[in-house]
Amino acid sequence: MKKLLLSLATCSLLVSVLAQTNRIDRKVDSVLRLMTLEEKIGQLNQYNGDWEATGPITKAGDKQEQIIAGKVGSMLNVTGVEHTRVLQELAMRSRLRIPLLFGQDVIHGYRTIFPIPLAEAASWDLEAIERSARIAAIEASAQGIHWTFAPMVDVARDPRWGRVMEGAGEDTYLGTLIAVAQVKGFQGKGLGDTSSIMACAKHFAAYGAAVGGRDYNSVDMSLRQLHETYLPPFKATVDAGVATLMNSFNDINGIPASANKYILRDVLKGQWNFKGFVVSDWGSIGEMIKHGYVANNKEAAERSIIAGTDMDMESRSYIGHLANLVKQGRVKVAAIDDAVKRILRKKFELGLFDDPYRYSNKAREEREWNNEEHLNASLDIARKSIVLLKNEHGLLPLKKELGAIALIGPLVKSYKDHLGFWSYDWKDDSLRVPTLYDAVRSKLKAGAVINYAQGCSITGMSREGFAEAMEAARKSEMVVMYVGERRDQSGEAKSRSDIQLPGVQEELIKQIAELGKPMVVLIGAGRPLVFNWTSQHIPAIVYTWWLGTKGANAIADVIFGDFNPCGKLPMSFPRNAGQVPIYYNHYNTGRPASSDSDRNYVSAYIDLNNDPQYPFGYGLSYSKFEYGELKLSSRNLKANETLSIEIPVTNKSDRNGTEVIQLYIRDLVGSVVRPVKELKAFKRISFNAGETKTISFRLRTDDLKFYNNELKYDWEPGEFQVMVGGNSAEVRKENIIWGRGK
Ligand code: BGC
Repeated sequence: MKKLLLSLATCSLLVSVLAQTNRIDRKVDSVLRLMTLEEKIGQLNQYNGDWEATGPITKAGDKQEQIIAGKVGSMLNVTGVEHTRVLQELAMRSRLRIPLLFGQDVIHGYRTIFPIPLAEAASWDLEAIERSARIAAIEASAQGIHWTFAPMVDVARDPRWGRVMEGAGEDTYLGTLIAVAQVKGFQGKGLGDTSSIMACAKHFAAYGAAVGGRDYNSVDMSLRQLHETYLPPFKATVDAGVATLMNSFNDINGIPASANKYILRDVLKGQWNFKGFVVSDWGSIGEMIKHGYVANNKEAAERSIIAGTDMDMESRSYIGHLANLVKQGRVKVAAIDDAVKRILRKKFELGLFDDPYRYSNKAREEREWNNEEHLNASLDIARKSIVLLKNEHGLLPLKKELGAIALIGPLVKSYKDHLGFWSYDWKDDSLRVPTLYDAVRSKLKAGAVINYAQGCSITGMSREGFAEAMEAARKSEMVVMYVGERRDQSGEAKSRSDIQLPGVQEELIKQIAELGKPMVVLIGAGRPLVFNWTSQHIPAIVYTWWLGTKGANAIADVIFGDFNPCGKLPMSFPRNAGQVPIYYNHYNTGRPASSDSDRNYVSAYIDLNNDPQYPFGYGLSYSKFEYGELKLSSRNLKANETLSIEIPVTNKSDRNGTEVIQLYIRDLVGSVVRPVKELKAFKRISFNAGETKTISFRLRTDDLKFYNNELKYDWEPGEFQVMVGGNSAEVRKENIIWGRGK
């Protein structure tokens, strides 16, 4: 009976969604019928406002006239209730009064800055990640924004690529879950609710695989790899109702993404039935000239609209050439209509046709501008994102009763660097963003002495400050160093060929370490860095990424034990840049090395181990988690059966703590070779001190599916390895057979 009621309820929900879709479609059609070709093309045109830019800006001083003439469908980088209202008023003076869409890169928070996405991924906490996106949407929408160019769902296996900071790391499965959580957060109760903004899954596609980790570079890969590794997060966001997608700058196997008919028309709008719209990346349509794919902007416009890019961000190719292309019969009006309809549909769904100013509410803007609850949420996920890499002899947590502590390093008194690359709406407000110095001070007893020295700058080569830093260390019971990257060293166009800790920071660490004082190194950065000497010689290391407004408080909470660290790396940390791309789910090869020291005509380096410095999924806690024996419900399964997996995990410490328990599988023989490990599930579980919990997972044959050589997504019967552990390198494993029969 319950089931029947449930399915009746689902049916009626479906019917009402369909009715609403039909209603909107009818409205869209009625507007479309009134539009001239020029007005239609105007809807496909997006201009930048007049500030922050990541590429060449349209300099035309007549943007306002163009809005009034109905030649602009959307603006980016225009924020604030007043500013957006002024432009919307211009749109209301256009013949058909079609409202503008305001878009912006709201990537990791808006006014309240959250940890960079790579850091948030280290929390493996999907609820907290969703909340972070939700809050960003609440704050941004209160400022007149309808649309964020996020989440970036590019799988990235190369830490040289500066934009790894903006995504969820190297794993497709984890990245897919995170992408969906972010879309849910941004889009909230659905478009139409004024605290929801349209999400934009970007960059479609395979941008994270740019050759050499160099931003904007080419991508050449098999379609199988594309479908298996790079497309699933996009597909999942489409299934979750993402409103828009953005092209990528790269070419994919020789065809620039902005005009890549295969990925846009065949896969996205065809196989996946995507009903939203696709915006180009900044100028990416015009950049096809430099790619050597088209001779001029006219050809660029033709190829892109035919391939399925609906909106042109700042290349002026559509506004400049589509009308002529239609007149010459090179582009069908139907292709333009399809794009216009997709964009108008979103404007209707957002409710902008009913009230174009519904996101322009001064009272709401003021209310959401300084919200304590948002700051607390930012602190919560910042703490969960921190990864404890090393903690010998239980050096951490520190005692608050310390009499004299040295705080050394170029990040100790920095507040801006906590904020990360995409954080231009935080405003220059140092009072809201404490430094590590402030946060440590607030933990210590009155009278405790902090001996501070910067020691060196982040990137400079001067060692002049070393002596002062040594002196500060000498006078102290213990030393905490805070080093890393500058806020603008990871991000768009911030690829690095050398991913060592920059400048002379590691040299400074070495010198201070010679004093033999107990020493903790904190590393704040937007990507996995290389710091081998530190890894080998410093007893306690904490990776703090860039954690946002409350970053310093989160770090202080962790190092003084008010929060027990639980973050796990979403990317492998290489031993040096020569190992990249490095990722846990690689193939075995025909000559795998049998051990770290095996160099005997095997797939290895003669000068370095294959394994990373810190593996995917790795992270310590002040608790110690012990994994018991794996228990499987069967070792011989049939196609329709479910495998139940159980493992006891014990917190062998006197501290409550949280552990992320990870399930991997390996398909031992396949019609195409399979990775040595693939993450299939995880659970983030809290344990009381001394507590044992039995953690269970279930696997079905659906979880074994992959793309075969014919691009068919299916599973293959045979032998599998089931692995469970606290990171990708240390697992308990058992083999099973999974057969076809029922
Ligand atoms: C970036 C996009 C971003 C856009 C607008 C481009 O350079 O690649 O991710 O959304 O600029 O700022």
